Amino acid sequence: MKETILVTGGTGFIGSHTTVELQQAGYDVVIVDNLSNSREDVLDGIEKITGIRPAFEKVDLRDASATEAVFQKYPKISGIIHFAASKAVGESVQKPLLYYHNNIVSLINVLSMMPKYGVKGIIFSSSCTVYGQPDVLPATEETPIKKAESPYGNTKQINEEIIEDTVKSGSPIKAILLRYFNPIGAHPSALIGEMPNGVPQNLIPYLTQTAIGIRKELSVFGDDYDTPDGSCIRDYIYVVDLAKAHVCAMTRIMEDKTTEPVEVYNIGTGRGTSVLELIHAFEKATGVKLNYKIVGRRAGDIEKVWGNVDKANKVLGWKAETPLEDVLASAWKWQCALRERGIM
Ligand code: UFG
Repeated sequence: MKETILVTGGTGFIGSHTTVELQQAGYDVVIVDNLSNSREDVLDGIEKITGIRPAFEKVDLRDASATEAVFQKYPKISGIIHFAASKAVGESVQKPLLYYHNNIVSLINVLSMMPKYGVKGIIFSSSCTVYGQPDVLPATEETPIKKAESPYGNTKQINEEIIEDTVKSGSPIKAILLRYFNPIGAHPSALIGEMPNGVPQNLIPYLTQTAIGIRKELSVFGDDYDTPDGSCIRDYIYVVDLAKAHVCAMTRIMEDKTTEPVEVYNIGTGRGTSVLELIHAFEKATGVKLNYKIVGRRAGDIEKVWGNVDKANKVLGWKAETPLEDVLASAWKWQCALRERGIM
């Protein structure tokens, strides 16, 4: 029997790629999204890739009765992947209540429905941001959680705790927390990808928009950090590899293979790459010269972080496989496709 998975935030960047991988693994997908930071035509892209149009409900998960109506309409939902959330670190500092309200109420509404509608498990979209600047690298799942640097980061920590407390209370659900490092790239078809609103805050969309001429130059935030070339280091994970981690985690839940009440996995490559290394890898992968300049540090940036991903490799049987240059080429192909479609 085909299992039905509810993907909240399924028209977003990671949600859309995960929907594709779920469908290709034989799952039926129902997407819920309020389209606050995504477009409905993402469904066309998904359908072109997989040949299957996922069911779609435009619902705001802060609305408890609208959320319940989704479970009534699709009684076969047996698993949930919860992506739906506001995710801009800077904006969260300006609008903390929006972030706390949206990110926390949505999770509470979704969790509340699970026992009543017989939903077996949930995968939560968490972040390595919970580790802050780790004292020891690479960060493992046991690395201490540091006080959050932003309301956004705090919502990830609080949501992890809400899930843990709910499972501890005896709720008959299984839960897996996936802590992502920095997701980048786009589907190789260039039919889906990252679509930031306005001026991008994240490195890769800013970089590809600079390369295509939308932005004049890329600012590299700092070259005086304690790293080999002075720029910050991150663990950049290909969004398609990341999407596949969700399929492994969901299958683990569906096949009753989880061994801890709440399992936690780092999802990254296990390798750190500096901003300058990334720029040069992009130039090599695409043959496009990038206009960039070094500027001062960005407030709130972590100096360096990358993950130990042994647990995901061993227990989930998942591994990030795509070489960085292919990932960067996919981001560039996507940017060019947006231009061809007249979107950006
Ligand atoms: N950077 C630049 N110039 C830019 C944008 C970014 O040099 O125009 C640098 C940043 O200083 C940082 C690196 O590129 O060193 C990556 O920055 P991103 O903004 O792409 O990503 P962050 O690591 O700051 O944050 C991301 C997500 C968060 C998540 C966090 C976890 O945006 O949601 O990873 O580490 F919480």
